[in-house]
Amino acid sequence: MLEFTRTHDELRFGFIVHPRSISELRQLVFRHALPILPFGTENFIKSQCLNRKAVKSIYTFPPIISHQNISCKGRVYCIFLMPDQILNLQSTAVNLVELACHQAQHWGSRVIGLGGLTGAVGSRGKEIAEKITVPVTSGNCLTVYSTLATFARLQKEIDLDFSSEKIVIVGFPGSISLAIARILARRGFNLILVSRRKTPFLDRFVSELKGSCTGGIEITEDLSHSLTRGRIIVTATSTGQIIDPDILLSGSIVLDIAQPRDVIENREKRKDVLILDGGVVTLPGSTPHRAKFSNWEPNDVPACLAETMILTLEGASESFSLGRELPLEKIEEIGRKSEIHGFIANTLRSFRRPVDEANLQMTREAFKRDRRVA
Ligand SMILES: NC(=O)c1ccc[n+]([C@@H]2O[C@H](COP(=O)([O-])OP(=O)(O)OC[C@H]3O[C@@H](n4cnc5c(N)ncnc54)[C@H](OP(=O)(O)O)[C@@H]3O)[C@@H](O)[C@H]2O)c1
Repeated sequence: MLEFTRTHDELRFGFIVHPRSISELRQLVFRHALPILPFGTENFIKSQCLNRKAVKSIYTFPPIISHQNISCKGRVYCIFLMPDQILNLQSTAVNLVELACHQAQHWGSRVIGLGGLTGAVGSRGKEIAEKITVPVTSGNCLTVYSTLATFARLQKEIDLDFSSEKIVIVGFPGSISLAIARILARRGFNLILVSRRKTPFLDRFVSELKGSCTGGIEITEDLSHSLTRGRIIVTATSTGQIIDPDILLSGSIVLDIAQPRDVIENREKRKDVLILDGGVVTLPGSTPHRAKFSNWEPNDVPACLAETMILTLEGASESFSLGRELPLEKIEEIGRKSEIHGFIANTLRSFRRPVDEANLQMTREAFKRDRRVA
């Protein structure tokens, strides 16, 4: 499916990001010396950033070297809009993303990744792809692949069989949730799909799934109730901060893909529920430097960024993950490419850090104990 235009020039990529919280926005403004006052109320700093329409390169990656001995390097560009501004002022956000893409292209990027919510607006990357002459991607295909790889590793590593469980998938009809639901439904899992409103598209999607799968499929708008009915939860909404871990059933396991994250990070962490980061990929071991992306563990990157790197290493000449519905062949294809280049797609992290063994053990015990009682 990919076309190749390999050259011996340095391969470069661009990646567009945005702040996920007000504290991140203040830090970015301060660190990158924007002519904006990083103090005052949240609304004050947000409106200054909106008025400035600032876009800035904030980080340059050291060279990434793949297991095929191909290297690439990249730059991260930030648009200074908060998640709610991106979702509520979509045409402004798309204009800023376009500006950031032009900067990335000017620097020599061969592929540009649309990180976080920059890939969810503008018809999920399609509008940007029409305006920019280099390939772009939301990175959602590898995000789906890596979340499912983590799901599989979890079942094996902590010796849990999810086949008789109801899997709760939150964030319909979003691009990532749709693809994960389709794949898990084909594998025969019982699913509870959570949206915040019913749409004709969603009705068609659910009846199509029911027609082609053996497991049960339910759709609901009641998130709280669904969290009392299933203990394996995969969540990828655009809203963020919608799941309080304190209300989860003992033994629950959440794969949280969303950026900003869907699970609220409480100061006191429960040991009997496991909150995992979905869509975390570790760079190839052949990469000599320890790249530090944001406040993640060294060499860990979000899957959407890893997809951008892989497409660059592959010399892709066309855009990849775009739009609401992701072709399943593309998810498999980018998964295969990630392995060829030595990226690790099933990394286990909780709130960006390695998983605590006691947390894993207590969740496993609670999961097994409560299943016996049920
Ligand atoms: N970890 C990674 O590497 C990675 C990569 C890509 C994306 N992401 C993150 O993953 C998330 C989803 O991305 P996407 O591209 O799939 O976005 P998307 O296509 O916009 O999907 C998000 C979906 O969530 C739904 N939603 C919003 N609030 C909800 C709620 N309270 N309850 C139930 N559903 C709700 C939205 O519904 P409506 O249609 O009603 O608005 C929308 O359909 C984003 O946070 C994004 O930043 C992470």
